[in-house]
Order: sequence, then structure tokens, then C-alpha cells
Amino acid sequence: MTTDENKMLQELTHGISEVLIPEESINQRVSELGAAISQDYEGRNPLFIGVLKGVFFFMADLLRKVTIPVEVDFIAISSYSLEARDKGFVRLVKDLDTPITGRHVLFIEDVVDTGLTLNYLLQNLNSRSPASLEVCTIFNKPHHRLIDLSLKYVGFDLPDRFVVGYGLDYRERYRNLPYVALLKAQTITPALRGSNLNII
Ligand code: IMP
Repeated sequence: MTTDENKMLQELTHGISEVLIPEESINQRVSELGAAISQDYEGRNPLFIGVLKGVFFFMADLLRKVTIPVEVDFIAISSYSLEARDKGFVRLVKDLDTPITGRHVLFIEDVVDTGLTLNYLLQNLNSRSPASLEVCTIFNKPHHRLIDLSLKYVGFDLPDRFVVGYGLDYRERYRNLPYVALLKAQTITPALRGSNLNII
């Protein structure tokens, strides 16, 4: 690595306190999920739907491990805010390009925490009468679940901590870390330290 590259990497990672899930473990698990999904959906021409922005890293890696024909679409929701999250409020800012009536839909998520966001989105998608609708999430945080949801494919259960990396952000940063990590206390703004997100 050149001195410049090293300096840039240090700038990206100096807010991190600990790597929780290393890159190799994520790669391994994504391969396993890809193999399982390929087997389960063979001959069903599934449509993978991802919710932006956090999911695009996982979606891109997963798709390259899936060995059957699939189609892909995205929706986008309003960016994460503590207030909106507590009320289970989600605003759709980009809808699907593809009709899903009669399709086998696999909904791809980055993280499910309370389940409020996912619940809202699943209700919305179900109202369009897909042939089937299942969920694949790379990360699951079961500790604060408010709604019981069935998650067919789960990559990793996470501890009750706020994490960043592999698509997950803190104030839009750290998404591009190839691993999942905890943040240092001093990285977090004081207002968020006492929140129910368990950021530190
Ligand atoms: P839920 O509605 O509580 O399930 O929240 C899902 C959303 O919360 C995710 O799409 C993320 O935007 C955000 N989120 C929850 N936990 C974390 C975390 O540990 N790091 C980053 N974002 C998180």
C-alpha cells in the first residue's frame, strides 16, 4: 500500500473501535446464502428487491453467488432518523420499476432491528399480490424486535450494539468498510449516546 493509500485508510477507520465481523466471515456467509437461495428458487425466476441505500453492498455480493436467473429491483425509503424510527414511519422515495403481481419475490435487507421498517415494506409489497414473498437479511438484531417477522434467510445475528460497515452507516459514513465494526465513543455525537440505539 502506498503512503497516500495508507493515510486515506486511516482517515476512514480512525473512528472505529473494534471489528465485530471480519470480511472473510461475511464473504463465506454470503456464499452460503447464495447457494441456499439458488437451490430454493430454482425454476421460479425470482425477483430480488432491495431497499436502498444500505443493501447495495450485500445485494451485489449475494447476486454474484446466486447461480440461477434472477431479476433485480430497488425501492428507496427516507433516510434513517431516530424520531421516524420510533414511530415506525417510513417514506417511500423511490418505488419499484417492476410489477410484482404473481412473482416470487425475495426481499433483501441489510439489517432488521425493531422490524418496523421491514413490516411496513412487506405490507406494502404484499398488497400487490406476489406469488410469494420471503426475506433475506444479512444482519439481524433480535433484541429490540417490536414485530414478529419471519426471516427466511439470516446472515448473522448481531449483539445489541450499533454497528457500521458493509452498507451500514453512521450519518452516511462507514458504509464502505468491508467488515462490520463498532464505533469509538468519541465518534458519536452526544445526543445519540443516550438513545435506545445502544450506539456505545
Ligand atoms: P428497524 O425498522 O428498527 O428494523 O430499523 C431498520 C433500519 O435501522 C435499518 O435499515 C438501518 O437503517 C437502521 N439501523 C438499525 N440498526 C442499525 C445499526 O446498528 N447500524 C446502522 N443502522 C442501523
